[in-house]
Amino acid sequence: MSATQKAHIFHSFGLDQLKLEEVPMPEPGPGELLIRMKASSLNYRDLLMVTGNYNPRLKMPLVPCSDGVGVVESTGDGCKTKPGTRVSPIFARTWHDGPPFREMLKRTHGGPLNGTLQQFMVVPEADVVEVPEQLSDVEAAALPCAGLTAWSALVERGPVKPGEKLLILGTGGVSTFALQFGKILGAEIIVTSGSDDKLQRAKDMGAHHLINYRSSPNWDREVFKLTGGQGVDHIVEVGGVGTLEKSIRSVRPGGSIYLIGVLAGKEAPLDLTPVLMQDIRIQGVVVGSRRSFQNMNRAVDVHSIKPTVDQVFSFEDAVKAFEYLKGGSHFGKVCISIQ
Ligand SMILES: NC(=O)c1ccc[n+]([C@@H]2O[C@H](COP(=O)([O-])OP(=O)(O)OC[C@H]3O[C@@H](n4cnc5c(N)ncnc54)[C@H](OP(=O)(O)O)[C@@H]3O)[C@@H](O)[C@H]2O)c1
Repeated sequence: MSATQKAHIFHSFGLDQLKLEEVPMPEPGPGELLIRMKASSLNYRDLLMVTGNYNPRLKMPLVPCSDGVGVVESTGDGCKTKPGTRVSPIFARTWHDGPPFREMLKRTHGGPLNGTLQQFMVVPEADVVEVPEQLSDVEAAALPCAGLTAWSALVERGPVKPGEKLLILGTGGVSTFALQFGKILGAEIIVTSGSDDKLQRAKDMGAHHLINYRSSPNWDREVFKLTGGQGVDHIVEVGGVGTLEKSIRSVRPGGSIYLIGVLAGKEAPLDLTPVLMQDIRIQGVVVGSRRSFQNMNRAVDVHSIKPTVDQVFSFEDAVKAFEYLKGGSHFGKVCISIQ
């Protein structure tokens, strides 16, 4: 009888369609690694993928989740990596350095390629990075998409300079990493959230100023006051059009808005005049390359950064983890322990 492993798979859209199945054990070909997965972490994108809101034409069946960490079990011919090495698959295969390119969008884990929510996974050796030693498996599993996106925005695209003012929207996965990276870059940080409890936690992590966007719906005015009428230098924008107009009013002339998410909508009439009149940079950000991932991991090591893990679910309870993420009560990352 041939060997099998377990994987979470959906054959049609819907969280109720995500099932744990017994599937054939993958085998590494030349230049590939067989990885025994230890942990996975959820991104908002994974939820959109499973529910059909990311790509309605997505090819299924599919194993979801872009992010994970595991230990090399065995290697194909020509690999240098030793069995036992702890690695993470990169978000987009073949994006090793430099700017993004069109083909790499077709090689992202968790859709269209199978993702990390399985016991074993085969990945080309060139498409993994080693994991910072000081991190647990679930902590390390938080890095590949959320961590790297925040890093790419603030360091590779920014860069944020010491003393500059950084506005971070929300307290989810990307935003809590942005807070941690903003701290090591020496920024003065304003965090917004819909929850006072979460704002308190952001303060405990070192945020300098806090704004509740529910009790202060005109939060851009609060930002204006906090910056002496000047506006901030950088904004981590996860809301999309639902927040962009206020972000445009919150940034200083010549400042930067890193457009990362569209949680609060993607289509609306928008007055773009201030963008040109004030020389504002709106910079899209898509995760990052292998080189940026390695750069980030060095900073994570040197500064002993611990990713903010809100809750860890068991492998069998993966659907509950997705439901928890959907509920929006999390602060930081929702993770899944695999073995
Ligand atoms: N471009 C990329 O490469 C990339 C990479 C990763 C993620 N993303 C996108 O970035 C977004 C965030 O991802 P994530 O994984 O960090 O999600 P997440 O962990 O689910 O966090 C979402 C957080 O956003 C905040 N939020 C929601 N609506 C908001 C609003 N109207 N104003 C301000 N904050 C709001 C909430 O914070 P509070 O609960 O504190 O209010 C929530 O916790 C998603 O749209 C995701 O698809 C893009």
